[in-house]
Amino acid sequence: MQFEVWTKGLATLAVDCIVLGIFEEGELSGEAQSVDSAAGGRLKKLLARGDFPGRPGETLLLADLPGIEASRVVLTGLGAKKNFARKSWRKAWSAAMTAIGRTRITSVAVAIDRPDSKDLDDYYFGRGVAEIAAGSLYRINDLKTGKKPKSPALQRVLAGPVRKTGIEATERGLEHGAAISASQKIQRDLANLPGNVCTPTYLADQARAIAKRHPSLRVQILDEPAIRKEKMGCLLAVSQGSAQPPRFIVLEHRGGKADTPPVVLVGKGVTFDTGGISLKDPPSMDEMKFDMSGGAAVIASLNLVAELKLPLRVVGLVAAVENMPGSKAVKPGDIATSASGQTVEILNTDAEGRLILADALHYARRFHPAAVIDIATLTGACMIALGHHHSGCMGNDDGLIRELVEAGVRADDRTWQLPVTEEYAEQLKSNFADFANIGGREGGAITAAAFLGKFTQGLKWAHLDVAGIAYQGGAQKGSTGKPTPLLADFLIHRAAL
Ligand code: BES
Ligand code: MN
Ligand code: ZN
Repeated sequence: MQFEVWTKGLATLAVDCIVLGIFEEGELSGEAQSVDSAAGGRLKKLLARGDFPGRPGETLLLADLPGIEASRVVLTGLGAKKNFARKSWRKAWSAAMTAIGRTRITSVAVAIDRPDSKDLDDYYFGRGVAEIAAGSLYRINDLKTGKKPKSPALQRVLAGPVRKTGIEATERGLEHGAAISASQKIQRDLANLPGNVCTPTYLADQARAIAKRHPSLRVQILDEPAIRKEKMGCLLAVSQGSAQPPRFIVLEHRGGKADTPPVVLVGKGVTFDTGGISLKDPPSMDEMKFDMSGGAAVIASLNLVAELKLPLRVVGLVAAVENMPGSKAVKPGDIATSASGQTVEILNTDAEGRLILADALHYARRFHPAAVIDIATLTGACMIALGHHHSGCMGNDDGLIRELVEAGVRADDRTWQLPVTEEYAEQLKSNFADFANIGGREGGAITAAAFLGKFTQGLKWAHLDVAGIAYQGGAQKGSTGKPTPLLADFLIHRAAL
């Protein structure tokens, strides 16, 4: 898809479609007014009849208005004027795009009223236009055998209105937004695949393919013998019950100076989580194919920094395993020795994410990182605590956590800090090993982070628990592509420093 800026002459723009925002009060914005007067007052008439109440999320497609170039106009509801802000703008644009995705429209000019520039500046406006346009046209690459519906026809999006002084920032926003949604698509495609296709080997092959496309990316894949050499006993304990061999993926983007301390992203890549011997209940176990979402977000983020050629050194590590209850599977009470040398009593084989992350986080040390961020669908408890609107953000460095929280707000991919104070680690006590891999039901998201904290001492480390936001269940079941927008914003800001 191609993104451009438009600055004036909406009624004479050579596009298939114009998108206008309408408030609940029925008032026309400057842009809508110009279209209305070109079209001989048709919009005012329609609104006066009460046919389009302007409620958020509602759209109306009008065809062949006289006096304007575009053959279609999409009206999209902005809600009450006094509540108008970035959130309602996003909702309106996204609803319009969903409607446009069902048509054969090939080019569209956005002319929705814009919120105050403090709430949505030119750069984030451009980014939102591109991100939402591409994101709402995303289609699951399904394995249905019937006739495929036609894919959306849209090819060009013009963002506006933009003042002359804002053109450059808007164009940069459009470029970044396009790259972010392309990277999100990588994450979503990987996560939506079934577990029998997206295995650890498959994930590694995809990482290799992405690295091939970008000259700044290097890739190294550790197979099982190499993982054994690294003494990743916790990762291997999780993997040993599966017929699928594990993979440890190392991606590196070399922007910036070669010897600068990198940001290291660490992803949980459990391609299917049955729970192992501590087997999960059947309801919605299929959703555990999404348990590699953190790993996929890391691969997506490396694609992003390479595509944008960010002047930054970034390393992506993905621990890819399948958690199965095979005859060789690890059992409750078994003790594993991590790469760090610390021993872990595995009381619950379903707390596998933290085990593979423990070894991956230890591996991060060799890069002498400026910051380490792990991304994982780690606990149901985090989903219970925060629902589906924020990921959980924890760690040992309040500055880094604050950076992530702020990136999440800007990217509309929010995260919320949970407190990992010393007391929580006490819940991990074991009589038989250095500590156990579970800490009871209470504060489950935090005790998981406290466990990871045992492997990140001396590092600047943050942990994103994305169990509640990386995918949706129910009728809309599928990957959301989060938290790639948050990570993108964090990395773009780091690169600008
Ligand atoms: N992958 C799950 C966490 C999860 C649960 C993600 C639900 C998304 C939705 C993780 O491996 C897990 O099973 N965690 C256990 C930990 C418990 C055994 C301490 C959990 O949350 O129940
Ligand atoms: Mn599990
Ligand atoms: Zn899991």
